[in-house]
Amino acid sequence: MTRIMIIVGSTRPGRVGLSVAEWVRDRMHETLEQDATAEAPAASLDFVDLAELNLPLLDEPHHPAKKQYTKPHTVAWSERVSAADAVVLVSPEYNHSYAPSLKNAIDFLFTEWAHKPVGIVSYGGGSSGTRGAAALAPVLGSVGMVKVAANPEIGMIGSKMVDGVFQGDEKLAGTVAAMTRMLVQTAEALRPLRG
Ligand SMILES: Cc1cc2nc3c(=O)[nH]c(=O)nc-3n(C[C@H](O)[C@H](O)[C@H](O)COP(=O)(O)O)c2cc1C
Repeated sequence: MTRIMIIVGSTRPGRVGLSVAEWVRDRMHETLEQDATAEAPAASLDFVDLAELNLPLLDEPHHPAKKQYTKPHTVAWSERVSAADAVVLVSPEYNHSYAPSLKNAIDFLFTEWAHKPVGIVSYGGGSSGTRGAAALAPVLGSVGMVKVAANPEIGMIGSKMVDGVFQGDEKLAGTVAAMTRMLVQTAEALRPLRG
């Protein structure tokens, strides 16, 4: 079975990212249930809130490619990411880039990310977080991830929150469904490389 990890990229108090990610998770779940067959059961979702994971700033002495981890939080993060076949990053735009919490979580590991398809759900103001997503792309490439083509983008995020809950629409749900299907297909195609 394919396992997809969803990572909530923002950690600050008052963030909208958690609600956006929950909405994305629920739409992905619907698509996976719709597509499930007796031979190919629905992919499972692992929801990672970086605020809850609470990784410190990178505190390992060795390059992560060596996998000589010295801290229990790194070992746990390594095992959790290793178990995933594909990843979704729910990524806010901060100062024309992406969140430092996301960069830190990526930098902790290296080979664990390789040969995994990744989808970016970006959000922000007028630019829909696309400058943040563009800044993220080469980082993902450097750790061997493969970005899928569907890009759910959410503009004017503040106007889409009602009582702290993100209000997505049908168009966005369609792009999330397309991203979900691309992640499953690409995860299966890349499985031999992941070993
Ligand atoms: C430090 C900071 C920098 C921001 N920079 C941008 C930006 O460059 N472009 C943009 O469209 N929105 C920017 N915003 C607005 C955010 O997209 C918006 O506040 C969003 O809710 C942030 O996601 P979060 O609530 O999950 O942290 C910025 C917000 C913060 C807190």
